Amino acid sequence: MARGQIDNAAEDGPAGGLALLAEARAGGALDDYRQPSPRRPTSRLVYVVRSGRTWPAAGGLGSNVRVGVTNVSIKRDKSQSDRLRAQLLGPKRHDVLSLSEVIEAGRTLTGDREGMAFYGLPPSGWYARGIRLLGRTCVEATPDITAQPIARTAHALLGARQRVGVVDLFAGSGNLLLHVAQGLSAPACGLEADEAVWRQTDTNLRILGAPPAVRLGDWQSYFEDPLNVDTTVYLLSPPWGNAFSFASGLDLARTEPPIPLIIDTIATRDRSIRCYALIQHTPIEPVANVSAVTDRYPIVGFGRGCFLVCVR
Ligand SMILES: C[S@@+](CC[C@H](N)C(=O)[O-])C[C@H]1O[C@@H](n2cnc3c(N)ncnc32)[C@H](O)[C@@H]1O
Repeated sequence: MARGQIDNAAEDGPAGGLALLAEARAGGALDDYRQPSPRRPTSRLVYVVRSGRTWPAAGGLGSNVRVGVTNVSIKRDKSQSDRLRAQLLGPKRHDVLSLSEVIEAGRTLTGDREGMAFYGLPPSGWYARGIRLLGRTCVEATPDITAQPIARTAHALLGARQRVGVVDLFAGSGNLLLHVAQGLSAPACGLEADEAVWRQTDTNLRILGAPPAVRLGDWQSYFEDPLNVDTTVYLLSPPWGNAFSFASGLDLARTEPPIPLIIDTIATRDRSIRCYALIQHTPIEPVANVSAVTDRYPIVGFGRGCFLVCVR
């Protein structure tokens, strides 16, 4: 195994279910996540850091991090997922999906007809309230099954802080933003550049009675009118585009824009006292070029489908 590679080394752990141990205690750099076989998606993930370098303790947090995550089961239909993704990002990109299309997407992408739960509601629940999803958002957005563990990780790693704000520079449905902001009891701000997506998300959030926290605009416009907070937690889930396929996984250096470029921009333009970047990645498929981030920004911890670095 190459230096710095992270391997999904063990299948059964004492905690049972899907537990995630961020074995950061030895310190090291991360090149790739090797995630569990989709055939065994509920197995325990153990991220083992194999290189000997030391990560600086980040933001007052020690680098010994252990994050427990409850059972999750995602069983993709491997033969159909890339086909469905191409359809939803292509001809159905701006179509409002019917409930049956949403349920079918849940079955294909998660193995569960309820897989496209958003805002804490199952598909039939949010659909009945008038909430809708466009095709691209259905496949790009962060549904509850992914967003909730990320919010728990954010809480475990950053929960005790005062005057924290949460920013999703690529807000999509606003679902990840809502979950993490709720988990940290923090104000939220999202940016969304696709006007059709923004309009639908804004409508959905109003139906929910949530503050209309998502602005229409390019991600870089955030820095012109930032939250007035001491600590900013940036959620990074830009469009994966050609950087991802269900067959081959995700390359963090080829997202649109690339994750390292976004973090460098945050480092230059953010004006809060301290800031972090929480990078969302696929919880199942392999993830490459993690070290393009972690070689330059100290890692604070991991969770299911995400890792957190200290930018400042
Ligand atoms: C992967 S999705 C985000 C998912 C999000 N975390 C959620 O909870 O739904 C990426 C979103 O970024 C938006 N986007 C693309 N380019 C952008 C840009 N330059 N600035 C802001 N948003 C952008 C896309 O329209 C898409 O809705």
